[in-house]
Amino acid sequence: MTKILPTTSDNIANCITELIGNTDLLRINSLSDLTGCEILLKCEQQNPGGSIKDRAALQLVKDAVDSGQLKTGMTIVEGTAGNTGIGLALVAKAYGFNMLAVMPKGQAKEKEQMIALYDAQLLLVDACPFADPKHFYHTAKHLGERHADYWWADQFENTSNCKAHYLNTGPEIWQQTQGNIDALVSVVGTGGTIAGNSLYLSEQNPQLQTWLVDPHGSGIYHYFKTGKYQASGCSFTEGIGIMRSVENFRQAKINKAISLPDQDLVTISRELSQLDGILLGSSSALNVAGALYAAAKMGPGKTIVTFCCDLAERSYSKLYNPAFLKEKKIITNHENLASMLARYQTEPSSRVIEVNMAT
Ligand SMILES: Cc1ncc(COP(=O)(O)O)c(C=O)c1O
Repeated sequence: MTKILPTTSDNIANCITELIGNTDLLRINSLSDLTGCEILLKCEQQNPGGSIKDRAALQLVKDAVDSGQLKTGMTIVEGTAGNTGIGLALVAKAYGFNMLAVMPKGQAKEKEQMIALYDAQLLLVDACPFADPKHFYHTAKHLGERHADYWWADQFENTSNCKAHYLNTGPEIWQQTQGNIDALVSVVGTGGTIAGNSLYLSEQNPQLQTWLVDPHGSGIYHYFKTGKYQASGCSFTEGIGIMRSVENFRQAKINKAISLPDQDLVTISRELSQLDGILLGSSSALNVAGALYAAAKMGPGKTIVTFCCDLAERSYSKLYNPAFLKEKKIITNHENLASMLARYQTEPSSRVIEVNMAT
Protein backbone atom coordinates (compact mmCIF):
# COMPACT_ATOMS: atom_id res chain seq x y z
CA MET A 1 0.00 0.00 0.00
CA THR A 2 1.23 3.55 -0.71
CA LYS A 3 2.12 5.10 2.62
CA ILE A 4 0.58 8.38 3.70
CA LEU A 5 3.53 10.42 4.97
CA PRO A 6 3.04 12.70 7.99
CA THR A 7 3.85 16.40 7.63
CA THR A 8 7.18 17.69 8.97
CA SER A 9 7.60 19.49 12.28
CA ASP A 10 10.24 22.24 12.40
CA ASN A 11 13.30 20.28 13.52
CA ILE A 12 12.41 16.65 13.01
CA ALA A 13 12.20 14.92 9.68
CA ASN A 14 9.33 12.46 9.61
CA CYS A 15 10.51 10.48 6.66
CA ILE A 16 13.92 9.65 5.18
CA THR A 17 12.96 11.46 1.94
CA GLU A 18 12.70 14.73 3.86
CA LEU A 19 16.47 14.52 4.36
CA ILE A 20 17.06 14.76 0.60
CA GLY A 21 18.52 18.13 -0.42
CA ASN A 22 19.65 21.16 1.58
CA THR A 23 23.24 19.97 1.33
CA ASP A 24 26.21 22.03 2.47
CA LEU A 25 28.49 24.13 0.27
CA LEU A 26 32.18 23.71 1.11
CA ARG A 27 35.12 25.95 0.16
CA ILE A 28 37.96 23.86 -1.24
CA ASN A 29 40.79 25.69 0.51
CA SER A 30 43.73 24.20 -1.42
CA LEU A 31 42.31 25.13 -4.82
CA SER A 32 40.81 28.46 -3.73
CA ASP A 33 44.09 29.64 -2.16
CA LEU A 34 46.10 28.48 -5.17
CA THR A 35 43.90 30.05 -7.86
CA GLY A 36 42.59 33.19 -6.14
CA CYS A 37 39.08 32.00 -7.01
CA GLU A 38 36.48 30.72 -4.55
CA ILE A 39 36.09 27.07 -5.57
CA LEU A 40 33.06 25.64 -3.82
CA LEU A 41 31.82 22.07 -3.57
CA LYS A 42 28.11 21.24 -3.21
CA CYS A 43 28.20 18.22 -0.90
CA GLU A 44 25.64 15.97 -2.56
CA GLN A 45 27.10 12.88 -0.93
CA GLN A 46 25.23 14.11 2.18
CA ASN A 47 21.93 12.95 0.68
CA PRO A 48 20.61 9.90 2.57
CA GLY A 49 21.27 7.53 -0.35
CA GLY A 50 24.78 8.96 -0.66
CA SER A 51 24.42 10.72 -4.01
CA ILE A 52 23.00 13.62 -5.99
CA LYS A 53 20.63 11.15 -7.69
CA ASP A 54 18.41 11.00 -4.57
CA ARG A 55 17.06 14.38 -5.66
CA ALA A 56 16.09 13.15 -9.13
CA ALA A 57 14.64 9.92 -7.68
CA LEU A 58 12.36 11.82 -5.31
CA GLN A 59 11.07 14.21 -7.96
CA LEU A 60 10.51 11.41 -10.49
CA VAL A 61 8.41 9.48 -7.97
CA LYS A 62 6.53 12.49 -6.62
CA ASP A 63 5.52 13.64 -10.10
CA ALA A 64 4.49 10.13 -11.17
CA VAL A 65 2.30 9.76 -8.06
CA ASP A 66 0.76 13.20 -8.62
CA SER A 67 0.00 12.46 -12.27
CA GLY A 68 -1.53 9.09 -11.39
CA GLN A 69 1.02 7.03 -13.38
CA LEU A 70 2.44 5.42 -10.23
CA LYS A 71 -0.16 3.82 -8.02
CA THR A 72 -0.33 1.70 -4.89
CA GLY A 73 1.10 -1.79 -5.31
CA MET A 74 3.18 -0.93 -8.38
CA THR A 75 6.86 -1.60 -9.03
CA ILE A 76 9.26 1.15 -10.05
CA VAL A 77 11.68 -0.10 -12.72
CA GLU A 78 14.76 1.79 -13.88
CA GLY A 79 17.97 1.24 -15.80
CA THR A 80 20.85 2.69 -13.82
CA ALA A 81 24.60 2.72 -13.32
CA GLY A 82 23.73 2.45 -9.62
CA ASN A 83 23.18 5.78 -7.89
CA THR A 84 19.70 6.41 -9.34
CA GLY A 85 18.86 2.83 -8.42
CA ILE A 86 19.90 3.46 -4.81
CA GLY A 87 17.94 6.74 -4.71
CA LEU A 88 14.83 5.14 -6.20
CA ALA A 89 15.11 2.12 -3.89
CA LEU A 90 15.20 4.46 -0.90
CA VAL A 91 12.27 6.55 -2.12
CA ALA A 92 10.32 3.41 -3.11
CA LYS A 93 10.74 2.01 0.40
CA ALA A 94 9.67 5.28 2.01
CA TYR A 95 6.57 5.58 -0.18
CA GLY A 96 5.65 1.88 -0.10
CA PHE A 97 6.44 0.84 -3.70
CA ASN A 98 8.46 -2.10 -5.00
CA MET A 99 11.67 -1.43 -6.88
CA LEU A 100 13.52 -3.22 -9.66
CA ALA A 101 16.90 -1.82 -10.74
CA VAL A 102 18.45 -2.96 -14.02
CA MET A 103 22.22 -2.43 -13.91
CA PRO A 104 25.07 -3.20 -16.30
CA LYS A 105 27.65 -5.63 -14.92
CA GLY A 106 31.01 -4.11 -13.96
CA GLN A 107 29.81 -1.17 -11.87
CA ALA A 108 31.10 -0.85 -8.31
CA LYS A 109 29.92 -3.78 -6.18
CA GLU A 110 29.08 -1.34 -3.38
CA LYS A 111 26.25 0.12 -5.46
CA GLU A 112 24.77 -3.33 -6.15
CA GLN A 113 24.98 -4.09 -2.43
CA MET A 114 23.25 -0.85 -1.45
CA ILE A 115 20.35 -1.54 -3.82
CA ALA A 116 19.97 -4.99 -2.28
CA LEU A 117 20.12 -3.53 1.25
CA TYR A 118 17.14 -1.33 0.41
CA ASP A 119 15.34 -4.57 -0.42
CA ALA A 120 15.04 -3.76 -4.12
CA GLN A 121 15.35 -6.39 -6.84
CA LEU A 122 18.47 -6.17 -8.95
CA LEU A 123 18.75 -7.41 -12.51
CA LEU A 124 22.32 -7.40 -13.84
CA VAL A 125 22.75 -7.36 -17.61
CA ASP A 126 25.88 -7.54 -19.74
CA ALA A 127 27.42 -4.16 -20.47
CA CYS A 128 26.92 -3.45 -24.18
CA PRO A 129 26.55 -0.51 -26.59
CA PHE A 130 23.30 1.47 -26.51
CA ALA A 131 22.30 0.11 -29.95
CA ASP A 132 22.07 -3.41 -28.49
CA PRO A 133 18.48 -4.22 -27.37
CA LYS A 134 19.97 -5.93 -24.28
CA HIS A 135 21.42 -2.60 -23.05
CA PHE A 136 20.24 -1.84 -19.47
CA TYR A 137 18.20 1.14 -20.71
CA HIS A 138 16.20 -0.93 -23.23
CA THR A 139 15.83 -3.81 -20.77
CA ALA A 140 14.26 -1.52 -18.17
CA LYS A 141 12.06 0.15 -20.78
CA HIS A 142 10.77 -3.20 -22.11
CA LEU A 143 10.05 -4.46 -18.60
CA GLY A 144 8.07 -1.28 -17.95
CA GLU A 145 6.11 -1.75 -21.18
CA ARG A 146 5.44 -5.46 -20.68
CA HIS A 147 4.06 -5.26 -17.14
CA ALA A 148 0.97 -3.18 -16.44
CA ASP A 149 1.95 -2.89 -12.78
CA TYR A 150 5.46 -1.57 -13.50
CA TRP A 151 6.29 2.11 -13.84
CA TRP A 152 9.48 2.94 -15.77
CA ALA A 153 11.12 6.04 -14.24
CA ASP A 154 13.10 6.90 -17.43
CA GLN A 155 15.67 9.23 -15.85
CA PHE A 156 17.13 10.17 -19.26
CA GLU A 157 13.95 11.44 -20.94
CA ASN A 158 11.70 12.21 -17.96
CA THR A 159 12.32 15.87 -17.13
CA SER A 160 11.20 15.51 -13.52
CA ASN A 161 14.92 14.74 -13.19
CA CYS A 162 16.16 18.22 -14.13
CA LYS A 163 13.13 19.77 -12.41
CA ALA A 164 14.52 18.47 -9.09
CA HIS A 165 17.59 20.66 -9.63
CA TYR A 166 15.70 23.63 -11.05
CA LEU A 167 13.39 23.67 -8.01
CA ASN A 168 15.88 22.78 -5.30
CA THR A 169 19.62 22.49 -5.98
CA GLY A 170 19.86 25.68 -8.06
CA PRO A 171 17.99 27.84 -5.51
CA GLU A 172 20.11 26.35 -2.69
CA ILE A 173 23.32 27.32 -4.52
CA TRP A 174 21.98 30.81 -5.24
CA GLN A 175 21.14 31.32 -1.55
CA GLN A 176 24.36 29.78 -0.24
CA THR A 177 26.53 31.98 -2.47
CA GLN A 178 24.23 34.97 -1.86
CA GLY A 179 23.98 35.33 -5.61
CA ASN A 180 27.75 35.54 -6.00
CA ILE A 181 28.49 32.87 -8.58
CA ASP A 182 30.42 33.25 -11.83
CA ALA A 183 30.69 29.68 -13.04
CA LEU A 184 29.05 26.30 -12.60
CA VAL A 185 30.99 23.16 -13.51
CA SER A 186 29.38 19.77 -14.01
CA VAL A 187 29.79 16.34 -15.50
CA VAL A 188 26.84 14.78 -17.34
CA GLY A 189 25.15 11.41 -16.85
CA THR A 190 21.57 12.11 -17.84
CA GLY A 191 22.15 15.86 -17.84
CA GLY A 192 19.59 16.45 -15.07
CA THR A 193 22.11 18.14 -12.78
CA ILE A 194 23.69 20.45 -15.35
CA ALA A 195 20.32 21.29 -16.94
CA GLY A 196 18.28 22.14 -13.84
CA ASN A 197 21.09 24.08 -12.19
CA SER A 198 22.28 25.95 -15.28
CA LEU A 199 18.71 26.92 -16.15
CA TYR A 200 17.87 28.25 -12.71
CA LEU A 201 21.20 29.96 -12.04
CA SER A 202 21.48 31.59 -15.46
CA GLU A 203 17.98 33.01 -15.01
CA GLN A 204 19.27 34.67 -11.82
CA ASN A 205 22.60 35.70 -13.38
CA PRO A 206 22.62 35.79 -17.20
CA GLN A 207 26.43 36.28 -17.10
CA LEU A 208 26.91 32.86 -15.45
CA GLN A 209 29.25 30.54 -17.35
CA THR A 210 28.30 26.88 -17.26
CA TRP A 211 31.19 24.53 -17.99
CA LEU A 212 30.55 20.93 -18.97
CA VAL A 213 33.38 18.54 -18.11
CA ASP A 214 33.42 15.27 -20.00
CA PRO A 215 35.57 12.20 -19.33
CA HIS A 216 37.61 10.81 -22.20
CA GLY A 217 35.40 8.30 -23.96
CA SER A 218 32.13 10.16 -23.58
CA GLY A 219 30.63 11.52 -26.78
CA ILE A 220 29.35 14.92 -25.68
CA TYR A 221 32.61 16.86 -26.08
CA HIS A 222 33.08 15.31 -29.51
CA TYR A 223 29.47 16.17 -30.37
CA PHE A 224 29.99 19.85 -29.51
CA LYS A 225 33.15 19.83 -31.59
CA THR A 226 31.91 18.02 -34.66
CA GLY A 227 28.12 17.66 -34.42
CA LYS A 228 28.45 13.86 -34.11
CA TYR A 229 28.46 11.54 -31.10
CA GLN A 230 31.66 9.53 -31.21
CA ALA A 231 33.78 7.90 -28.50
CA SER A 232 37.34 9.21 -28.23
CA GLY A 233 38.94 7.27 -25.38
CA CYS A 234 37.94 5.06 -22.50
CA SER A 235 37.32 6.44 -19.00
CA PHE A 236 36.82 4.31 -15.88
CA THR A 237 34.37 6.82 -14.36
CA GLU A 238 30.87 5.52 -13.57
CA GLY A 239 27.45 7.13 -14.00
CA ILE A 240 28.65 9.80 -16.41
CA GLY A 241 29.29 10.22 -20.10
CA ILE A 242 26.66 9.75 -22.82
CA MET A 243 26.75 8.86 -26.48
CA ARG A 244 23.38 10.27 -27.50
CA SER A 245 21.15 13.29 -27.07
CA VAL A 246 18.59 12.96 -24.25
CA GLU A 247 15.76 15.22 -23.14
CA ASN A 248 17.17 16.20 -19.73
CA PHE A 249 20.49 17.20 -21.29
CA ARG A 250 18.70 19.19 -23.99
CA GLN A 251 17.30 21.52 -21.27
CA ALA A 252 20.80 22.68 -20.26
CA LYS A 253 22.31 26.11 -20.88
CA ILE A 254 25.95 25.32 -21.46
CA ASN A 255 28.62 27.85 -22.42
CA LYS A 256 31.88 25.86 -22.46
CA ALA A 257 32.89 22.21 -22.72
CA ILE A 258 36.15 20.48 -21.95
CA SER A 259 37.27 16.87 -21.86
CA LEU A 260 39.80 15.72 -19.27
CA PRO A 261 41.72 12.45 -18.90
CA ASP A 262 41.32 10.02 -16.01
CA GLN A 263 44.91 10.84 -14.96
CA ASP A 264 43.76 14.34 -13.96
CA LEU A 265 40.88 13.16 -11.81
CA VAL A 266 43.17 10.66 -10.09
CA THR A 267 45.76 13.38 -9.39
CA ILE A 268 43.16 15.76 -7.99
CA SER A 269 41.58 13.06 -5.82
CA ARG A 270 44.93 12.39 -4.12
CA GLU A 271 45.79 16.08 -3.73
CA LEU A 272 42.44 16.96 -2.13
CA SER A 273 42.51 14.01 0.23
CA GLN A 274 46.02 15.04 1.40
CA LEU A 275 45.55 18.82 1.51
CA ASP A 276 41.88 19.27 2.46
CA GLY A 277 40.74 15.93 3.89
CA ILE A 278 38.16 15.75 1.10
CA LEU A 279 37.63 12.30 -0.41
CA LEU A 280 36.01 12.34 -3.82
CA GLY A 281 34.41 9.70 -6.02
CA SER A 282 35.54 9.57 -9.64
CA SER A 283 32.85 11.82 -11.19
CA SER A 284 33.29 14.32 -8.34
CA ALA A 285 37.05 14.36 -8.89
CA LEU A 286 36.44 15.08 -12.57
CA ASN A 287 34.11 17.93 -11.55
CA VAL A 288 36.82 19.40 -9.32
CA ALA A 289 39.46 19.07 -12.05
CA GLY A 290 36.97 20.89 -14.31
CA ALA A 291 36.57 23.64 -11.70
CA LEU A 292 40.38 24.04 -11.58
CA TYR A 293 40.37 24.24 -15.38
CA ALA A 294 37.67 26.94 -15.33
CA ALA A 295 39.66 28.88 -12.70
CA ALA A 296 42.81 28.59 -14.83
CA LYS A 297 41.03 30.04 -17.84
CA MET A 298 38.80 32.62 -16.09
CA GLY A 299 41.52 34.05 -13.82
CA PRO A 300 41.44 35.07 -10.14
CA GLY A 301 38.47 36.62 -8.33
CA LYS A 302 35.74 34.30 -9.62
CA THR A 303 33.36 32.10 -7.64
CA ILE A 304 33.08 28.64 -9.14
CA VAL A 305 30.66 25.97 -7.90
CA THR A 306 30.82 22.27 -8.64
CA PHE A 307 29.38 19.06 -7.19
CA CYS A 308 30.53 16.21 -4.99
CA CYS A 309 28.17 13.74 -6.69
CA ASP A 310 28.45 10.70 -4.44
CA LEU A 311 30.28 8.96 -1.60
CA ALA A 312 33.97 8.27 -2.28
CA GLU A 313 33.65 4.66 -1.12
CA ARG A 314 31.63 3.94 -4.28
CA SER A 315 34.90 4.51 -6.15
CA TYR A 316 36.97 2.30 -3.86
CA SER A 317 37.42 -0.59 -6.27
CA LYS A 318 38.64 1.60 -9.16
CA LEU A 319 39.83 5.12 -8.26
CA TYR A 320 41.35 4.02 -4.94
CA ASN A 321 42.58 0.61 -6.08
CA PRO A 322 46.36 0.66 -6.87
CA ALA A 323 46.20 -2.59 -8.90
CA PHE A 324 43.37 -1.25 -11.06
CA LEU A 325 45.18 2.05 -11.68
CA LYS A 326 48.40 0.23 -12.53
CA GLU A 327 46.54 -1.78 -15.14
CA LYS A 328 45.25 1.50 -16.60
CA LYS A 329 48.81 2.93 -16.55
CA ILE A 330 47.72 5.78 -14.27
CA ILE A 331 50.08 7.07 -11.58
CA THR A 332 48.98 8.68 -8.35
CA ASN A 333 51.86 11.16 -7.81
CA HIS A 334 51.92 12.47 -11.37
CA GLU A 335 52.01 16.21 -10.51
CA ASN A 336 50.93 18.63 -7.79
CA LEU A 337 48.08 21.16 -7.95
CA ALA A 338 50.38 24.07 -8.85
CA SER A 339 51.81 22.30 -11.89
CA MET A 340 48.33 21.11 -12.88
CA LEU A 341 47.12 24.72 -12.75
CA ALA A 342 50.12 25.92 -14.77
CA ARG A 343 49.48 23.22 -17.36
CA TYR A 344 45.80 24.16 -17.65
CA GLN A 345 46.72 27.87 -17.94
CA THR A 346 49.03 27.19 -20.87
CA GLU A 347 46.81 24.74 -22.74
CA PRO A 348 45.59 26.24 -26.04
CA SER A 349 42.20 27.87 -25.70
CA SER A 350 41.01 25.80 -28.66
CA ARG A 351 40.70 22.86 -26.21
CA VAL A 352 37.69 24.64 -24.70
CA ILE A 353 34.63 24.37 -26.93
CA GLU A 354 32.35 27.40 -27.00
CA VAL A 355 28.86 25.94 -26.86
CA ASN A 356 25.72 27.40 -28.30
CA MET A 357 22.86 25.21 -27.15
CA ALA A 358 19.53 25.97 -28.75
CA THR A 359 17.28 25.27 -25.79
C1 LIG B 1 28.42 9.28 -9.62
C2 LIG B 1 27.60 10.14 -10.52
N1 LIG B 1 28.05 11.36 -10.82
C3 LIG B 1 27.37 12.17 -11.65
C4 LIG B 1 26.19 11.76 -12.24
C5 LIG B 1 25.52 12.67 -13.24
O1 LIG B 1 24.32 13.19 -12.87
P1 LIG B 1 23.21 13.55 -13.95
O2 LIG B 1 22.51 12.27 -14.29
O3 LIG B 1 22.32 14.50 -13.22
O4 LIG B 1 23.84 14.15 -15.14
C6 LIG B 1 25.69 10.48 -11.95
C7 LIG B 1 24.45 10.01 -12.58
O5 LIG B 1 23.98 8.94 -12.37
C8 LIG B 1 26.41 9.66 -11.07
O6 LIG B 1 25.98 8.42 -10.76
